[in-house]
Amino acid sequence: MNTTRIPGVESFFDPATSTFSHLVLDRATMQCALVDSVLDFDVRSGRTSTASADRLVARVRELGARVQWLLETHVHADHLSAAPYLRGVLGGEIAIGAEIVGVQDTFGRLFNAGEEFRRDGSQFDRMFRDGDRFSIGSLPAMAMHTPGHTPACMTYVVGEGDAPAAFVGDTLFMPDFGTARCDFPGGDAGVLYRSIRKVLSLPPATRLYLCHDYPPAGRPAQASTTVAEQRAANVHVRDGVSEAEFVDLRRSRDATLPMPVLMLPSVQVNMRAGELPPEEANGVRYLKIPIDAV
Ligand SMILES: [Fe+2]
Repeated sequence: MNTTRIPGVESFFDPATSTFSHLVLDRATMQCALVDSVLDFDVRSGRTSTASADRLVARVRELGARVQWLLETHVHADHLSAAPYLRGVLGGEIAIGAEIVGVQDTFGRLFNAGEEFRRDGSQFDRMFRDGDRFSIGSLPAMAMHTPGHTPACMTYVVGEGDAPAAFVGDTLFMPDFGTARCDFPGGDAGVLYRSIRKVLSLPPATRLYLCHDYPPAGRPAQASTTVAEQRAANVHVRDGVSEAEFVDLRRSRDATLPMPVLMLPSVQVNMRAGELPPEEANGVRYLKIPIDAV
């Protein structure tokens, strides 16, 4: 196979939020995409920092690559996106799924955001619909709508042949951990099951790049797995598990999960494509905590 049709992928793990960011490189043109970047946020002090994102900046510069895309798989509820910071430093277009407008409506209401908060997705440079095609340099790429964890979740399939790379966000985790929760606003376990079957219909050697890993003791965090491994061994959705069985299992597990530590800060920032809320009259930006509303 001509390996120039498969991206070079480097993954960067943020231990504070267990998040992987991926640098997806077309070696032929040295153009790249950055998937699911992290802006560091210390919830105790309210301070942000760019140490995680700056690892991506340093690597892009070291490679001499040009950033074409800043891809978000979804509105994350466990970390803040660094996409606007990276766009300012490296360039590129921020992209997400077109269903973001519904997510903006839901969270705009929850946080009682003012008129300044546009709910038309215009904070993003590009909104992908299911099946939209784009490219990273000379590599073909395709956006696949894979809702369930959230309504706007996308999987980005990059490269062609029998072993493309797919950036699956929070649809799937490593086979020993299973799948993402479906109890956030607009989440739906049955919908996630069908999205996962779509992902698992990609060629068996497709490498699936994850947004998170939560390894058991003794196993290092892993950034990727394959369709074949998931179909054989995923503890929630390996081949043979029915939609009804999955929905039962997912619902009972979700009922036991606490909210992520950074959920309220994350969604307020990520619904704005990673921009912080506007400054108030004193020049300070604030995040809200809705009381007894979630
Ligand atoms: Fe998520």
